[in-house]
Amino acid sequence: MTSLIIANWKMNLSLEESVEFCTTLKKYKFKNHPIIAAPAPYLAYLAHNFPELDFSAQNISFFENNGPYSGEYSASMLRGCKVYYSLIGHSERRNLFYESDKIIAQKIKNCLNSSVTPIICIGETLDVHERKKYKEFLFNQLNNIFFEINDEYSIELNDHKQKGSSNHPKRIIIAYEPIWSIGTNKIPSLDQLNEIFKLINNYLKESSIANNVAIVYGGSVNLDNIEQILSIENIDGVLIGNASLNSQTFIEMLQRSY
Ligand code: PGA
Repeated sequence: MTSLIIANWKMNLSLEESVEFCTTLKKYKFKNHPIIAAPAPYLAYLAHNFPELDFSAQNISFFENNGPYSGEYSASMLRGCKVYYSLIGHSERRNLFYESDKIIAQKIKNCLNSSVTPIICIGETLDVHERKKYKEFLFNQLNNIFFEINDEYSIELNDHKQKGSSNHPKRIIIAYEPIWSIGTNKIPSLDQLNEIFKLINNYLKESSIANNVAIVYGGSVNLDNIEQILSIENIDGVLIGNASLNSQTFIEMLQRSY
């Protein structure tokens, strides 16, 4: 099975380092599918110079159409630059830039309207996890997001013949990233991951959008745990932060699959 292996570089690497990384990566053929969420200033350049690779933004504007929004860029601008994915609602954006589920839902709509695949991040805090309230928390996040987009987009999301926004057949990617796992070297137990991925999958099935949604795990994924994580049922891939900054490590992770 092909897994999505998504690198989230965050605000790291110089342009030269990014080019070097992509030059190395493009020499390989992988069964798994790499997507690189590079810093915004590099995206158009990288997508133009490495058409064989897939790139993702780490964020897009809440505003859909062109206008007086200094510092912002739209999903359609990304698509114009041949960037077909964007992370939406990463916990760093939720926490540091106060992004609410409502803002996130709008950004998802903007992506879908421009045929950009949103990689929607959800996940609980340590406190919620320790109080074992993560099921309710995740349901709530999913409900808040999908309540806003379901009516308008469910037909489109269910239509297999709908033209894909990228070379990946899924229209939406959900990244389950428990906040307490990000950059901490702690991951949920395999039992917990099994439980949570089943839960998300059941939620999507009930909302009848499961066919067009991929679900990936993010948070302290590394060379030692990637195979175990990919072996979990219902997991379609991983989102990797720190361990994706080195091309050799990332390539090794791409070569590992369940
Ligand atoms: P990490 O980050 O792999 O460094 O934990 C993941 C992420 O924030 O997407």
